[in-house]
Amino acid sequence: MKTITIGTQTAHVGETAELCRALADEVETLLKERAAEGRLAVLGLATGSTPLPFYDELIRRHREEGLSFSNAVTFNLDEYEGLGREHERSYWHEMWCNLFDHLDIKAENVSVPPSVSEDPDRDAAAYEEAIREAGGIDWQLLGIGGEGHIGFNEKGSAIDTRTRRVTLARKTIVDAAPGFGGEDKVPTHAITMGVATILEARRVVLMARGASKREIVKRAMTGEVSSEVPASFLQNHQNAGWFLDEEAAGSGSDA
Ligand code: F6R
Repeated sequence: MKTITIGTQTAHVGETAELCRALADEVETLLKERAAEGRLAVLGLATGSTPLPFYDELIRRHREEGLSFSNAVTFNLDEYEGLGREHERSYWHEMWCNLFDHLDIKAENVSVPPSVSEDPDRDAAAYEEAIREAGGIDWQLLGIGGEGHIGFNEKGSAIDTRTRRVTLARKTIVDAAPGFGGEDKVPTHAITMGVATILEARRVVLMARGASKREIVKRAMTGEVSSEVPASFLQNHQNAGWFLDEEAAGSGSDA
């Protein structure tokens, strides 16, 4: 893995396995430091295809090296509206299948925004409060959407947005359609942590893989910081890291 400068930002570029090891090292260090102090480590987690090999690496370290997640508290970024937890495309379901079921994390320490809610405003406020009560997010993982969304903060999401109900962008629905068996089956709304919620994390890492992410990663890292590309707000975070494979980085040609 190499570290290069893209615009004003530092990017870690390498093969997926290297990126996953580097990210897992950060999580392992945090968990162990906190465990030694008798404290909890608060992780913000993402769904989608990007983090799957990273989650596999965490599971491997738990199984083969005994890395414990018993002092981990997690908050997921977002959830589709209306599916219900048991739906196989719900982010709750994905997180349990792809990660939590394979770790020693305590179920009561896992939070995913509610998919079904009678009062989304109230539940969104409660989610913010739960993050505050946990002491804030220590380490936040992000992917990036085709138009630069982080969480489900679509184009136009302001820097001061908080956890809330949002309308999904057309591009997000089109990208999700194969997994749902058609665009008409993709939920039109979601609940997501806000941009401000994300930026308050003490460490934020954005992972991107594949050539389809190259243009948007470049815009997010080198373009104007604006709600046009919500991921661009990371440029001004004190402790943000970009973890890119060669395809997403454009092989560092712009460094
Ligand atoms: C998922 C999330 C989204 C995804 C993004 C990239 O919890 O918040 O912002 O990270 O849409 O998705 P993939 O990784 O499937 O390309």
